[in-house]
Amino acid sequence: MSSGVYIHIPFCQKKCYYCNFNSFDNIEHLKEKYINALIYEIKNSSMHDYDSVFIGGGTPTCVPIHLLLDVVRLVAKKGCEFTIEANPATISEKGLFLLRKAGVNRISLGLQSANDSELLSLGRLHTFDGFLNSFKNARRAGFDNINIDLMFGLPEQTIDSLKHSLNAVADLAPEHISCYCLSVEEGTPFYNMPLNLPDEETARQMYLLCVEFFKKHGFNHYEISNFAKDGFECKHNLKYWERKQYYGFGAGAHSLLQNIRYKNSNNVCEYIDSNVAERTVLSQSEIKNEYIFLALRKTNGIELADYNAIFCEDFLKKYDAQILKYKDYCTVKDGRFYLNLNGLTVSNTIIADFLE
Ligand SMILES: C[S@@+](CC[C@H](N)C(=O)[O-])C[C@H]1O[C@@H](n2cnc3c(N)ncnc32)[C@H](O)[C@@H]1O
Ligand code: SF4
Repeated sequence: MSSGVYIHIPFCQKKCYYCNFNSFDNIEHLKEKYINALIYEIKNSSMHDYDSVFIGGGTPTCVPIHLLLDVVRLVAKKGCEFTIEANPATISEKGLFLLRKAGVNRISLGLQSANDSELLSLGRLHTFDGFLNSFKNARRAGFDNINIDLMFGLPEQTIDSLKHSLNAVADLAPEHISCYCLSVEEGTPFYNMPLNLPDEETARQMYLLCVEFFKKHGFNHYEISNFAKDGFECKHNLKYWERKQYYGFGAGAHSLLQNIRYKNSNNVCEYIDSNVAERTVLSQSEIKNEYIFLALRKTNGIELADYNAIFCEDFLKKYDAQILKYKDYCTVKDGRFYLNLNGLTVSNTIIADFLE
């Protein structure tokens, strides 16, 4: 089985008010040094046999294109799913064309909402028209596999304004959509702001609306928050949910290699000067917790024969009490155990009950 490669770019042109990802808008001067450190880390790794690459962030496209291309060319190879994340405010038609030519074949564009007032209140740098322009440029540059990131549960958002965003996205016919409920994270400006957020029940209705809407428009709902046209499920992200091997490069990036987890320094200066990855050998119960937690994010859940073989126990017997307790929220069928739509709306609570 081939591995995945994740490459982290910790720069953004401007931090959005809700985001606590490992990314910064005040270390512009470190971009070149960072890319050199990244190239050094990749060249000196034992990485081999991979078939997916994901350059994420932060905003990879806010690094000068010639530097980004140095990284792309280093890891691009035939037959690989190669994704790059982009913010519509930071990508030109020429840049998209150069990335496509260098081997990137999937682009993930952050939209979040098609309503300009919502974009403004999230601290986004682009309008919906700006996004449309980037989307069209990506198509013109030859991208036939595009993901759009959306969010719901936004301040002041209503069911009607969400419907407007959903229709605007469906009109563009992307191949993939990621749709996350806004999470208000400590350390972000939103955390200390008085926000008029939809209540819990409205947020649940919003999630159900998204699922129903995307299904009606021909998308497979294959993970709690991810939807894809047939054959366009993200191979790279599926590797995380299926606990396959992956190599992570860059500040804060993780690798999972033979049940050993490596974690790079989050601090960008430290990463550039003297990155030493933290190494953790996972215990059997950590491995099992991760396996269950990640697999139950997928709508096809756990393959019972696979689980039983890996952990030398019968999943249905071991968890019979939990399965009975959540019988209205889960399904056992065709050799699999998975959360149904009802279960996906309260997945954190249910999954927590399966962990050791
Ligand atoms: C790395 S960004 C995508 C690329 C680019 N930086 C951008 O924002 O356009 C990853 C995505 O995570 C989602 N995200 C980030 N912070 C979030 C939060 N607090 N709650 C929910 N989704 C969030 C957003 O949909 C965002 O597009
Ligand atoms: S959502 Fe994207 S652009 Fe906004 S701060 Fe986070 S990583 Fe940067």
